[in-house]
Order: sequence, then C-alpha cells, then structure tokens
Amino acid sequence: MANELAGKVAVITGGATGIGRGIVELFAEEGARIVVGDVDEAAGTALAAELGDRVRFQRTDVAEREQVGALVDRAISEFGGLHAMVNNAAISGRFVNRFLDDDLADFDRVMHVDVAGTMYGTQFAARHMRENGGGSIVNLSSIASLNPGFAIAIYRAAKAGINNFTRSMAIDLGEYGIRVNAIAPGAVPTKMGSFADPALPPEQSAELERQLDTAWLASQPIKRRGAPRDIANAALFFASDRSTYVTGQVLGVDGGGTAGEMTNRNAMMTSIRDAFYRDLKG
Ligand SMILES: NC(=O)c1ccc[n+]([C@@H]2O[C@H](COP(=O)([O-])OP(=O)(O)OC[C@H]3O[C@@H](n4cnc5c(N)ncnc54)[C@H](O)[C@@H]3O)[C@@H](O)[C@H]2O)c1
Repeated sequence: MANELAGKVAVITGGATGIGRGIVELFAEEGARIVVGDVDEAAGTALAAELGDRVRFQRTDVAEREQVGALVDRAISEFGGLHAMVNNAAISGRFVNRFLDDDLADFDRVMHVDVAGTMYGTQFAARHMRENGGGSIVNLSSIASLNPGFAIAIYRAAKAGINNFTRSMAIDLGEYGIRVNAIAPGAVPTKMGSFADPALPPEQSAELERQLDTAWLASQPIKRRGAPRDIANAALFFASDRSTYVTGQVLGVDGGGTAGEMTNRNAMMTSIRDAFYRDLKG
C-alpha cells in the first residue's frame, strides 16, 4: 500500500506516543498531512520534527473544548481542510480491581478526557466536514467496552459510552457524508497497556510482564499482544476510501479476545463426569 491518504488532512489526538503515534506514522506514510494534539509537549514536538513537514504538533488537552476547537482550526488553516478526525486521546484512571474499593475520585477526569474529549473532537470536525463534502471520524474505544468484568469500572463505562455515541453519530451525521466508526483495541503494550512495573528493577519488571502476558494470552485465540501498527491499520481502513460504505461500527482489533469464551466447558464437564463415574466404580 502507498498513498492511500494522499491529499487528505487528519487530526489525531493523543498522537504523541503509544497507539496514537502508530496511527500518525502510518497516516504520514500513506501521504496524509496531520496535526497531532496531545498534552505531552516534548514527545509531540519531537515526533513532528522527526516526521517532517507534513506533521504539525499543537499542545491540546482534549478535556478543554476551546483547545479542541483550536486544534481543528489549525488543520484547516494550515493544510486547507479536514478529512479524518481520530479521537484517540484517553486515560484509564487508577486500576482498581473491585468497584467497592474505588473512591471514584477519577470519575470526572476520565469521563471528561475520554467521553467529552471524543464529543468535542467529533463536533468541531463534523461542523467543518458538513460544509465540505463529508469525512471520516474514528473513535478509539476498547475491549473494556465490550467485555464486562472486574476492574477499571469508570473506564469501561466511558468506552461503552463512546460505542453508543459512535453509532448515534453515524445516524446523526450520515446525511452529510460523514462516517463515524470506532476501534476497540485489545491489550497493546503502550504506557497505558503495559503489564510491566517501572518501579521494579528491570529483571523483576520483565518477569512480572512475562507472567501477566501468559495469563492474558490464555484467553486470546491469537497468541500475541497487539502492536500500535495493528490498530493503525484499522484506523487507516476507516479513514480511507476503502470504507466508504462502512459507518456506525465498533471493530475489535484484539487477537480475537472478544470472539467468545476460550474455556471449553464441554471438555471440562466431560472430564469431571469421567472422573466422577470412575470414582463411583471404585
Ligand atoms: N494500550 C491498550 O492496551 C489499549 C487497549 C484498549 C484501548 N486503548 C485505547 O487506545 C487509545 C490510545 O491508548 P494508548 O495505549 O496509546 O495510551 P497511552 O497512555 O500510552 O497514550 C495516550 C496518549 O494520549 C495523550 N493524552 C492523555 N490525556 C490527554 C488529554 N487530556 N489530551 C490530549 N492528549 C492526552 C498522552 O499524552 C499519550 O500521548 C486510548 O483511547 C485507549 O483508551 C488502548
């Protein structure tokens, strides 16, 4: 593939590091001009310098509505338009395993960055796209939105909210030629998705990561963690003309982690039955 995004302009939030950075790199390779918005000024500035003239960085906190508006304006004034808006910036909040132990102190910030940030980006981008022949909006969700379960309750609710917002916007904005889709990544070892503990000595941290990795992959059909490029490929599909008939979708990019239960219950029942009757017979 090459030049799938030639002539297109994209805004990518949270693009200074992690998955967002992977999306920036792929979109740049495919010929897009990009404005990256992130709170990490050092990483964002360095990335723009590294990727050259087609990438700009603007310090942006997506929880601040005016800053998101200014980010979208920058893309339009600097590159003459906006065709793809990737609402990627997010935080997961503190990792609390059980809800009853959570003081919910993170609630406002997580909801504001993840949900309001996505809404601001969508609204400013769509107002421009409506007047200029449409475009594509790509929201970063998570498997945490699809798999109910223990831990990070606020984040799960935020990302589930993004899924329904995505589908609602596909309906609301479709008549303007604006498509809205979401990607639900599995566990990608970025700063947010890392299983390591930087507070430990490196060998211990690596051993912790190895053990948690093994436990994680036991319930995933494809036996590797994801890479930012895996998620970026899905973002490219949604942002490019390859998906002009696709809107309102939440795509799991997760090694099959949301395909279903990996435990073979029937095999388990059979082995319990076999053992039970064997013991009965003595
Ligand atoms: N890594 C995973 O395992 C995983 C899994 C599922 C979903 N996701 C989602 O993918 C997206 C990217 O995650 P990641 O793993 O790269 O996270 P990360 O924490 O590694 O990187 C997030 C980036 O967003 C920036 N950011 C944070 N708050 C911001 C704010 N208020 N305004 C602007 N920028 C801000 C950070 O500076 C950073 O550059 C997120 O939406 C996340 O929820 C990640």
